[in-house]
Amino acid sequence: MSKTISLDGSVAVVTGGAVGIGAVYVEGMARAGASVLATDIDEVAAIALAKRLQADGLQVESMRMDVTDPAQIDEALRFAQATFGGVDILVNNAALFTTLLPMRPFTEIESEDWARVMKVNVEAPFLCAKAALPYLRQSGRGRIINISSTTALTGAPTLLHYITSKGAVIALTRALAREVGGDAITVNNIAPGLTSSPTALSTVDAERFDAAAATRAVKRHQQPEDLVGTLLFLASEASSFVTGQTHVVDGGAFLQ
Ligand SMILES: NC(=O)c1ccc[n+]([C@@H]2O[C@H](COP(=O)([O-])OP(=O)(O)OC[C@H]3O[C@@H](n4cnc5c(N)ncnc54)[C@H](O)[C@@H]3O)[C@@H](O)[C@H]2O)c1
Repeated sequence: MSKTISLDGSVAVVTGGAVGIGAVYVEGMARAGASVLATDIDEVAAIALAKRLQADGLQVESMRMDVTDPAQIDEALRFAQATFGGVDILVNNAALFTTLLPMRPFTEIESEDWARVMKVNVEAPFLCAKAALPYLRQSGRGRIINISSTTALTGAPTLLHYITSKGAVIALTRALAREVGGDAITVNNIAPGLTSSPTALSTVDAERFDAAAATRAVKRHQQPEDLVGTLLFLASEASSFVTGQTHVVDGGAFLQ
């Protein structure tokens, strides 16, 4: 975890923050000095994470929040305001990914699956950004960090609904950055390569991790912790003039 970037005095809300990469984001920002609200549809895991990090002296609270439900989004933001005094950073991490596996051709994807993925992966970041806007304006140094994927840049075959949704996240990032830049709010997205989150490890074939490592300039498996440095930079004051960008973190597999 980075010890060089400070988020002292900042408040962050992370969606899908109970397990996997989201939980590592929560811990990374809390260790950098932020007060963090870990939200997730998996309330039990969110509570367990918050308890573990509180025991370590970190400012972390948890709340059940389904990112497709505007009322729950509002409630979580109000809780963050009441508990921590505001919201400076929104991390839109929740998504349907590993639960969509196994990989399959687009002819086997049903319209209902397509709609469900777009709702969680694309509409939810829009809903969360909209609900967070008054808080981020109030902050005067607001940050929205979306999570896309290198699959949207490389056009990986299979999981067409997922990959299309992550392409939409990149477009959302760019357009939203222009809409809110006047309020000193930045909007960026991180595009991770295949990452060894617990859910990915339990659903993606081991050979795929080896194959991904072989395509990288830095030839190893990507860990959730590899994403934290970029996240902290984008969440911090240091990135106040960086917005609308896709930040690829994949060990140099996809070179822009
Ligand atoms: N793991 C990878 O290889 C990889 C690669 C590129 C991008 N990503 C992206 O990184 C992010 C995290 O990936 P991960 O591997 O940790 O995934 P994960 O499936 O382990 O975690 C997703 C989290 O989102 C939560 N979630 C799902 N639906 C929700 C809803 N409706 N409301 C609230 N929370 C909900 C889940 O409970 C879970 O905690 C995702 O956006 C994913 O698309 C992952």
